[in-house]
Amino acid sequence: MNPRDSQIPGAPGSATPPLAEPTTPTDPLPPKPEQGAPEPRTPTGAPAGCPVHAMGQQGEYLTTAGGTRLRDTDHSLKAGPRGPTLLQDHHLREKITHFDHERIPERVVHARGTGAHGVFTGYGTADAITRAGFLAKNKETPVFVRFSTVLGSRGSADTVRDTRGFATKFYTDEGNFDLVGNNIPVFFIQDAIKFPDVIHAGKPHPDREIPQAQSAHDTFWDFVSLHTEAQHHTIWNMSDRGIPRSYRTMEGFGVHTFRLVNAAGETALAKFHWKPKLGVHSLAWEEAQIAGGVDPDFHRRDLYDAIEAGAYPEWELGLQVFPDTPEETFAGIDLLDPTKIVPEELAEVQPVGRLVLNRTPTNFFAESEQVAFHLGNLVPGIDVTNDPLLQGRLFSYVDTQLTRLAGPNFSQIPINRPHAPVNDMLRDGYHQQAVHGGVAPYRPNSLDGGNPSPDPENGFVDVPVRVAEAPKIRQNPVSFEDHYSQVRLFWQSMSPVEKEHIVAAYTFELGKCYHQTIKERQLQCLAEIDPVLCSRVADGLGLPAPTASSPASSPDSVSSSPALSQVGKRWPVEGRIIGVVADPGADAAALSGVRDAVLEAGLVPLLIAPRGGKLADLDVQRTFDTARSVEFDAILVASAPSPVDPRVLVLISEAWRHGKAIAAWGPGATVLAAAGVEGTPGVGVVDSGSEAFATVLDLLAEHRVWQRFPA
Ligand code: HEM
Repeated sequence: MNPRDSQIPGAPGSATPPLAEPTTPTDPLPPKPEQGAPEPRTPTGAPAGCPVHAMGQQGEYLTTAGGTRLRDTDHSLKAGPRGPTLLQDHHLREKITHFDHERIPERVVHARGTGAHGVFTGYGTADAITRAGFLAKNKETPVFVRFSTVLGSRGSADTVRDTRGFATKFYTDEGNFDLVGNNIPVFFIQDAIKFPDVIHAGKPHPDREIPQAQSAHDTFWDFVSLHTEAQHHTIWNMSDRGIPRSYRTMEGFGVHTFRLVNAAGETALAKFHWKPKLGVHSLAWEEAQIAGGVDPDFHRRDLYDAIEAGAYPEWELGLQVFPDTPEETFAGIDLLDPTKIVPEELAEVQPVGRLVLNRTPTNFFAESEQVAFHLGNLVPGIDVTNDPLLQGRLFSYVDTQLTRLAGPNFSQIPINRPHAPVNDMLRDGYHQQAVHGGVAPYRPNSLDGGNPSPDPENGFVDVPVRVAEAPKIRQNPVSFEDHYSQVRLFWQSMSPVEKEHIVAAYTFELGKCYHQTIKERQLQCLAEIDPVLCSRVADGLGLPAPTASSPASSPDSVSSSPALSQVGKRWPVEGRIIGVVADPGADAAALSGVRDAVLEAGLVPLLIAPRGGKLADLDVQRTFDTARSVEFDAILVASAPSPVDPRVLVLISEAWRHGKAIAAWGPGATVLAAAGVEGTPGVGVVDSGSEAFATVLDLLAEHRVWQRFPA
């Protein structure tokens, strides 16, 4: 049976492979049903007319890059069967030469990432503040989204503690709009000139090149404890936001303030927010560490599997809107300072559209690796502000892509091609795909009839913002000097269990540093945030807790923003993974009933059995060898061999430690008793499989059984 028939996502290939090598020539297999690819467009954005998948391969036969059919690709051309290989073998040389050049430089930051295609639908609710056409009511725009970590190399683990990139390319009718944000609403630095510094500090040490994809090391904490504007971002990293459960349970933020322009030319300032339909959820730290070893692809697998299972990841795009005043502040908060948020309680996030990711890439390299985002990809109605971080980013992305994508024509790579007509005067260069006509790629011209013409009606408007008279100077505004008030706001907004996690994260990260002075300096920063936070971490490090240098550190002087906490609500559970432990002693009908109920509720059941193959006529997806608790959001136990296999006990005890819902029925009860978790919060022993599923379904809506965590 084709594993796809069992509705369990993850099987590679679009058909079940035969046992023997196929020898009858056939066309390339179609992609899997959930896979998409960039729409075929010419380099100038025009629809290309060919089927999507003809862009990769076509025909039944193996050819050279030049399309000549080949008889043999398994043997090099030699002077006799034992003879030397001949230089004449152009097929060998083409094959090996191309292979030798398959790798391109990875991104200098955000190298580890994964993408998906989707569609954005406008609500029309932003019409009064921006003329951007893709936000109009019911307007559908294709998008490609790439999620990433910042610090790690391309092959690093997904679940490390880090900021996540959330970059969206909207292929709008008015040209590409790239919203290149993160899952954390503030940034480490206020000025782009510090970007090489913070990244050099966060990357592995230059002498030994360790640690990989970690902030838990001396150079990182050296920098952020000296450059204290980073303290706001680092507390977000130390919170559960630094270890998301899934890309589909992450918020996204444009971070900077943008300037919106409506049809009448009026302007407003705004911040972009992505709100996940499933809520904002995180891993437990131990889970993140285990997953880093047992499933380094945890997040990309989750994204692809969710799409394949039909549980399409979804977000609402929202705007916080502020009056465009000369001061560019709101409620005393400097809107040009990218280390500051505007609490949602002060400026509501207003929904303006919906994003659904419904297609996985057909080819990772062509799409996720070659996609090139750039903050300068703006559309009429959305302009930039003078945020000094944003200003530097406007330079950096194209500059790095010139090297990464080998030349200036990367906007012509299929995943980057706009879906709007392109008529620029950019010419030639490496890998030029367009065959430009005409003789006058300059303006003004008369030889090409004056084409191309500027569009005074619908062209992009650089808002003529007044620049205050001021000396030319390397200096920040005075308001940028406040490095702590919003860090305190964040800490004060956390629930007790989230505070525990933050304490543990700082203690772990600083505990990994070698130098006492760096730990002491960061403890001083924590003292400025909160005395309890500081003393708890100091205690864990075995160091004295310093006291704050400024009276403003009193926690009484800050309010809290409940929107920042991830705990205390209930959310939809579609696409969550339910592990079902069973052995041949399980009641077959009950097992099959549970599986159907899980699928019907839109969740994914994975059957875990002592060995692979079939159990009660059902496909076994995981065995006691291949299952690890991190993969499951909840565990159901039907039965297990007696005495209980130690691997099952580890599975149950880890799931319990990580606050996951667990329920058993029938002989499964003895397994929970053997694991010592029976009768504890969030562990149900019930009479039937359906009751067991109902128990975990209810608990899952709160994401975890929070009572299990010490607070
Ligand atoms: C608010 C602050 C920032 C955010 C939210 C942000 C976000 C991102 C994201 C999401 C990516 C990955 C894009 C992808 O998936 O391909 C990225 C890549 C990158 N960022 Fe940033 N970034 C920020 C600040 C900066 C700054 C200040 C600089 C430099 C001055 C910078 C330089 C880069 C570079 C060079 C890349 C690699 C781009 C490529 O190779 O295609 N970023 N950034």
